[in-house]
Amino acid sequence: MTAEETELAGALGERPAFVPTMGALHEGHVSLIRHAAGLGHQVVVSIFVNPTQFAPNEDLATYPRTREDDIERAREAGADVIFIPDEQVVYPGGSRAAERGAAAIQLPEVATRPGLEDACRRHFFGGVCLVVGRLFDLVRPGPAIFGEKDYQQFMVIRSMVQEQAERFEGIEVIGCPTIREPDGLAMSSRNVRLTSDTRERALGPYRALQAAGQAETPREAEASMAEVLDAHDLEIQYAVIRDAETLEAVSDDGRPMRALIAATLDGLRLIDNAPYPG
Ligand code: PAJ
Repeated sequence: MTAEETELAGALGERPAFVPTMGALHEGHVSLIRHAAGLGHQVVVSIFVNPTQFAPNEDLATYPRTREDDIERAREAGADVIFIPDEQVVYPGGSRAAERGAAAIQLPEVATRPGLEDACRRHFFGGVCLVVGRLFDLVRPGPAIFGEKDYQQFMVIRSMVQEQAERFEGIEVIGCPTIREPDGLAMSSRNVRLTSDTRERALGPYRALQAAGQAETPREAEASMAEVLDAHDLEIQYAVIRDAETLEAVSDDGRPMRALIAATLDGLRLIDNAPYPG
């Protein structure tokens, strides 16, 4: 163990409740930390802007960083330990080598087959599984709390834990509902980039999900989502109804479904989702 790992191990209780984040904490993150605090375990929050889940053309360098505020928010919400590791602690061999590791990692099918986030951000789930796996090894949590805001990510982590049952033994992956602004906009660290001009158009995904809830069939729901997103002048990456577990095409055997949207607004990516029908 390195000095940092020993220090972390000294601060950790048995099977803490764990909330991994990339910082720039908002009420969505706070709701996860509060949920963790209600479980009666020690609460560990990590803050690490993970380089391996960003593609070279993405916003790693400019990802919002608000460290002092984050620490205060996390503590107020009930965090006992705030783990802010250096890159060498997470990736002792360096993030370049880790990136090669991410490419080689065996991903669950829900990370490769749906053609949703996996198609739009090809490197993304490799990096997410790599970092979350490493953080799980370091923290050894019981409950691990994720937001449904990033629905495919939540399903991917759940599958990863199931599929590598020995490595992740004792970890229970828990999902919490999406926290929204009063007008429905899903909270996101990147919302600070919205301007007074784009803020209204950013309501498109939420309104599209509401329209989907009124539709009679999944096909009609997809058509009305596209219509609403177009009306907000957003570029659609996907707006689909899928099986809520596999995120693949819906079947008509009564399995739960989910509406999922990704769209861009002047280069800013917005994602949102909701159970279907509403
Ligand atoms: P980050 O975007 O910081 O999100 C951390 C956690 O907060 C994730 O589980 C995410 O789904 C949840 N979250 C974000 N916005 C939310 C909202 N409006 N309501 C409820 N929960 C919300 O997701 C990541 O970081 C990273 O990929 C990570 C898992 C930490 C791996 O690097």
